[in-house]
Amino acid sequence: MLDRLDQQPPDALLALIKLHDADPRADKIDLGVGVYRTGQGETPVFGAIKAAEQKLVKEQDSKSYLGPEGDMGFVHALMPYIFDGEDPTIGGRIDGMQTPGGTGAVRLALALAKACGVSRILMGIPSWPNHAQIIKDLGLELVTFAHATDDGAADLAALEAALSDGREGDAVLLHGCCHNPTGVDYTPAQWDDIAQLLEGSPVLPIVDLAYQGLGHGMDEDAYGARRVIAAVPEALIAYSCDKNFGLYRDRVGALYAMTADTESLARVMSNGYALARAAWSMPPDHGAAAVRLILEDEKLTAMWQDELDQMRARIRQVRDRLGTAGQVGSVDLTPLAHQNGMFATLPLDKDQIAELRSEHGIYMAGSGRINVAGLTMDNIEKFIHAVSAVAS
Ligand code: LMR
Repeated sequence: MLDRLDQQPPDALLALIKLHDADPRADKIDLGVGVYRTGQGETPVFGAIKAAEQKLVKEQDSKSYLGPEGDMGFVHALMPYIFDGEDPTIGGRIDGMQTPGGTGAVRLALALAKACGVSRILMGIPSWPNHAQIIKDLGLELVTFAHATDDGAADLAALEAALSDGREGDAVLLHGCCHNPTGVDYTPAQWDDIAQLLEGSPVLPIVDLAYQGLGHGMDEDAYGARRVIAAVPEALIAYSCDKNFGLYRDRVGALYAMTADTESLARVMSNGYALARAAWSMPPDHGAAAVRLILEDEKLTAMWQDELDQMRARIRQVRDRLGTAGQVGSVDLTPLAHQNGMFATLPLDKDQIAELRSEHGIYMAGSGRINVAGLTMDNIEKFIHAVSAVAS
């Protein structure tokens, strides 16, 4: 039986990590997988996480099972940051559950949507490649539209057209902030329009919020998700702490569901628990417990927010430098200055991307996506020169 399986290619993005690691050049640059790096090129554990982990080691008195919902203290502690701080439960209509990373949250959101009759997912492209993989794996139909216009702005008209064709049984998957892979976000005014479009639409909104705090700030980056949930009766939010708490390998995420009335909420969540139980049973505890300990402690919360602010400021600094480089060969870096988060997609072809790797030791995704956080004030000039050399 097993020999009937075809060889699968390794995940292109994850394979880049190994290729980069194997390159002996000292001045190589890793702009591949989305992990934050400091000005020294490191991905350190947050100080607030270290402190919370120490507390956890000291205070945790059991590793006994939680349930498929995970650590509800963690799930609830995040809610005032994601939703309206005054009433994060929106009148008792929102609850959540812990998931293994943002990927687990996206998977569960889509599985839950499928369980209630969704068969088509509307999604702007390009998108994070795993979105399409999960959609396919769940046997859902993917209906695409353009995410961005050629001049580097979010294409609201394309989303509007997709939504106007939307029908019962459709869900739309939206990136809440820091769009992966383009860095092109809907503006607040566009989110206002999106909220209006969704109001009264049969299309179920699913918002993937994986980079909150890396764009303009925790509140600012939640604007889109908050506008959407204020406009519609039902929505799903897939959340990740992998980036904004730097917990990548600990896999910390959450799925939130907003239901039309308070009575349906427990029933909807019970479906989330059942799906989780069948998929991974329970999420890993450690990282989520560390996040909970941070959010329960004022000092640790302030420390985490400060670390997040520093990350965001450094990403902005890199973006500003790229923006001032302007036209570099055939590539215009100017728009990168006003895009958000860790990613940008450069209009480079496969040969140019391969040449950047072979000739200059610069590793980026085959889509032309770069992780701008992989650039530092020490290697950014080399990067700009290399782009100009391959895209002349
Ligand atoms: C990325 O897009 O690089 C990250 O979200 C990591 C991943 O799992 O793909």
